[in-house]
Amino acid sequence: MMKKALIAGILAWMLGSSSTHAQQTKKSSILSDSIWLDTQGQVINAHGGGLLYQHKTWYWYGEKRGRSQSEGVNVYSSKDLYNWQFEGLALSPSQDTTSDIAEGCLMERPKVIYNKKTKQYVMWVHLELRGRGYAAARAAVAVSSTPAGPFTFLKSFRPNGNMSRDMNLFVDDDGSAYHIYSSDENMDLRLAKLTDDYLSPTTQDSLLFRRQREAPALFKNAGLYYLITSGCTGWAPNQASLHTSSSLFGPWTLVGDPMTGPNANKTFGGQSTYVLPVPGKKNTFIYMGDRWNPKDLKDSRYQWLPIQFKDGQVVIEWVDNWNLQQFNKKG
Ligand code: DGJ
Repeated sequence: MMKKALIAGILAWMLGSSSTHAQQTKKSSILSDSIWLDTQGQVINAHGGGLLYQHKTWYWYGEKRGRSQSEGVNVYSSKDLYNWQFEGLALSPSQDTTSDIAEGCLMERPKVIYNKKTKQYVMWVHLELRGRGYAAARAAVAVSSTPAGPFTFLKSFRPNGNMSRDMNLFVDDDGSAYHIYSSDENMDLRLAKLTDDYLSPTTQDSLLFRRQREAPALFKNAGLYYLITSGCTGWAPNQASLHTSSSLFGPWTLVGDPMTGPNANKTFGGQSTYVLPVPGKKNTFIYMGDRWNPKDLKDSRYQWLPIQFKDGQVVIEWVDNWNLQQFNKKG
């Protein structure tokens, strides 16, 4: 009995001390491709994700993955972009087998935006119905009154009847929001303006270009819209493209591959997912991508890199270890 208690005591002490240790190692930089732990020392599981800044806090929403399965949408919070606290499962698959989000469905590339009029946090995800591979090609919408959720699933649909796979959301300066999505078996990239409550697409929905692209990440700087996309090669990396336009609905001009550094022509082995405008800093954006591990999706890594504007061109250079101080440098 005594022996058992002693062993249990030692185990508890070891577990306690290791998590305390994990909590104490505060991070102050971004190391793409390495394993990222949350403040409890657990591996961060938030792939294909997006960020939202609210109340001086960043919220990071991403796919919770098992080895191959999709397990919903996780959310983490941070005050500094380096140290992330796990907030829980923001959107859970449903136990109800008749639900569109029944366990076994695929939830990919979740993005959350805040609607000032309705005071709701609105999540959109690429949804595939359970047991149907990638055939359903739908978008799903969920809402919450708090950023960490849990979110309530509202509905899923094909926007204006169009197939909808890889996607992103974008809120323009006037508060209008847009859904950008790969359609027609990924041949088309489309953009739909959302209704004022951000819950549905309007019929202002049109083809941006037909070039077989996915993983869209859209941002705006000094009145110009920038769009980073990948090719369509499943989980395998390929070459990124940058398009620009002075108007969201186009015409979009192909600029080329904005990546530089080792393995740049394969997007450093990764794929775009989001571009984060850094609040309070002009011309300051962070490129976010995933380095997928198709053999064990939960082990996929994160690639976050500073976006540089050099002679009016967007340049995304591989940097091993960096932090926000990078943006204070001239040049
Ligand atoms: C590429 C997409 O960008 C990912 O989100 C995922 O759908 C994979 N294809 C599946 O092969």
